[in-house]
Amino acid sequence: MNILIMRDYNEISRQAALLVAASIALKPNLVLGLPTGRTPIRMYKELVVIYKNGFVNFSDVVTFNIDEYIGLPRENPNSFYSYMHNNFFRHINIKKENIHIPNGMAKDIKKECVRYENLIRKKGPIDLMILGIGYNGHIGFNEPSDEFIPETHVEVLTERTRMANSRYFGSLAKVPSEAITMGLGTIMHSKKIILLASGRDKAETILRAVKGNITPRFPASILRLHRDCTFILDRDAAGLIKKK
Ligand code: GLP
Repeated sequence: MNILIMRDYNEISRQAALLVAASIALKPNLVLGLPTGRTPIRMYKELVVIYKNGFVNFSDVVTFNIDEYIGLPRENPNSFYSYMHNNFFRHINIKKENIHIPNGMAKDIKKECVRYENLIRKKGPIDLMILGIGYNGHIGFNEPSDEFIPETHVEVLTERTRMANSRYFGSLAKVPSEAITMGLGTIMHSKKIILLASGRDKAETILRAVKGNITPRFPASILRLHRDCTFILDRDAAGLIKKK
């Protein structure tokens, strides 16, 4: 695993955006795995700027979002569908048919998981997967568990994750209790993985991901077994690994 430590949030965002743009220049039909959350917002903004300046073309790029809440309609501002369109897709020239996000409103959620997994297999593997990380080490919505779950599946969200995400919903009660997420096998099959983390509140999490045991109790620890995974961290998020 590689670790890149940069000055601040703006720098990690710019670095990640440049990396995505360069990957698309090298492979115009790149298959890109995408996260949501607070962390990647600036990366998306930077990518939109790079696009508007004419330096990246998304017309053949295929995207797969990692996760989506169950039971939130697309038009709900807190759905990851809304997040992705508002922060990214509506500002670039990606084709609608190349955008893939799990459907958290599907009548048969289990079938939807199988459909999504099969689609990734058909169009994949994912060339470049961008990840954030939850405080408890979750990636996508793969929460701490007794086993690494390989494929796209339904995840019951932990109280800690729902608390962290309640800032967007106004109250904990409004945060969905379940989500569809790509599994850890699907994520690990990506050719290249970039994980972004920023801020002092992520330092403990990053320390565990980098130096703790590799265990499903801390899902991000599995990334250490990937042959091309880079953590791009700002100084605050890297604060504890630098000291020890
Ligand atoms: C969310 C998402 C993850 C994200 C993580 C961290 O719940 N499902 O994909 O990486 O939590 O989010 P943030 O960047 O807001 O800290």
